[in-house]
Amino acid sequence: MGAIGGAVRVRHDLHTRLINARARTDELFHIVRDEALYDRPIPERHRIIFYLGHVESFDWNLLAQRAFGLPSFHPSFDKLFAFGIDPVGGGLPTDEPSDWPAREEVESYNQRLRAELDQAITKALARPSEGHPQLASMLEVAVEHRLMHAETLSYMLHQLAADKKIPAPRESVWQTPRAKSHLVEIPAGVATLGLHRVNGDEFGWDNEIEEHEVEVPEFAVDIYNVTNREFMSFVQRGGYEDKSLWSDEAWAWIKKENIQHPVFWRRAGNLWMYRAMFGLIQLPLDWPVYVSHAEATAYAKWFGRKLPTEAQFHRAAYGTSDDAVERQYPWGDELPGARYGNFDFSHWDATPVGSYPRGASAFGIHDLVGNGWEWTRTTFEPFPGFTPMPFYPGYSANFFDGKHYVMKGGSPRTAACMLRRSFRNWFQPHYPYVYATFRCVED
Ligand SMILES: [Fe+2]
Repeated sequence: MGAIGGAVRVRHDLHTRLINARARTDELFHIVRDEALYDRPIPERHRIIFYLGHVESFDWNLLAQRAFGLPSFHPSFDKLFAFGIDPVGGGLPTDEPSDWPAREEVESYNQRLRAELDQAITKALARPSEGHPQLASMLEVAVEHRLMHAETLSYMLHQLAADKKIPAPRESVWQTPRAKSHLVEIPAGVATLGLHRVNGDEFGWDNEIEEHEVEVPEFAVDIYNVTNREFMSFVQRGGYEDKSLWSDEAWAWIKKENIQHPVFWRRAGNLWMYRAMFGLIQLPLDWPVYVSHAEATAYAKWFGRKLPTEAQFHRAAYGTSDDAVERQYPWGDELPGARYGNFDFSHWDATPVGSYPRGASAFGIHDLVGNGWEWTRTTFEPFPGFTPMPFYPGYSANFFDGKHYVMKGGSPRTAACMLRRSFRNWFQPHYPYVYATFRCVED
């Protein structure tokens, strides 16, 4: 296939990917019972109804006018559903359910919007030379934006009471022998961060550019993520009561919110329970603990260790003993598949650490990609050569404030396309609802 034929194939593929991504978000709204659509499961975020409109209006605001010259048919909805909330230190939203439009109105807006966009995309793909030169990148942005919401909506619906959700079929119980963690030495070497553009048409967000090498001195890293069992020792030995383990801001936060254990845990008399996606279960001791950056940092300090840097994560995940060879994924260069880890929507919850030995890195480190994002101690900052994406300038730049930390890897609800090596996720340190875990290093 020639260059033009190849371009057409890629673009058609993008339309299919957009349609598939829509099925992912549709699936999430279907598990919400009707009466809960106007609930706000996370106090700092919008009500669920906002996201029903947002994932569609985002595509419309990105593509309609810019790529296709389509006039707005509902300007007030385009605006109402345009922006989410990043809750850094601000007050909580105070809107009422009655401030939002009826479900039917939002759904008919969504239907018309999809129909108009699909028609325009099909037309543009038939004549690629006449379309917007950046249409392919814009479609990638639409696909990945929606898939990111498919993940963050899962965090949100996770916090919605089980009786407000339509449960998925029960997942089988994992029988994995209990894995005992220990440190693994990683020799000094080079880690390549950022996106390498081979053909110039690989998609990456602005914060992934440019590719660059970082020298990483020797260090040692946990072979597995910290489990609920291990984190229990920290809870029971007073980790949440020892001010010396917390930064001033983190201490103020846990005191103000009265946080005494991970948000996914529940105390029931003498028993510890766990809030899984579709109900309470006994605390799964062998699952990775999901915690905020502040809690992960306090645990590491209690242990006399640290969280890894972004470069150390890269070295542990993609490095090999031959400095000239780095892998695309921890397991090698093969594309992500279910045998390599817990990601790409196969499961709603975590699996025991060490359940995917075939996904281990060259240094034998487990679960680096999947089963929970991994906190690093690296603040989210631009790579050298950073330029904001022209049609979404605030995507990364709005968060270079020293108040967000890089997460790497991926969770059970991270789409396969975002498991690429250069992908960077970030969150502020006092947000406990993310499927984020950690491991410690000594350096
Ligand atoms: Fe969004």
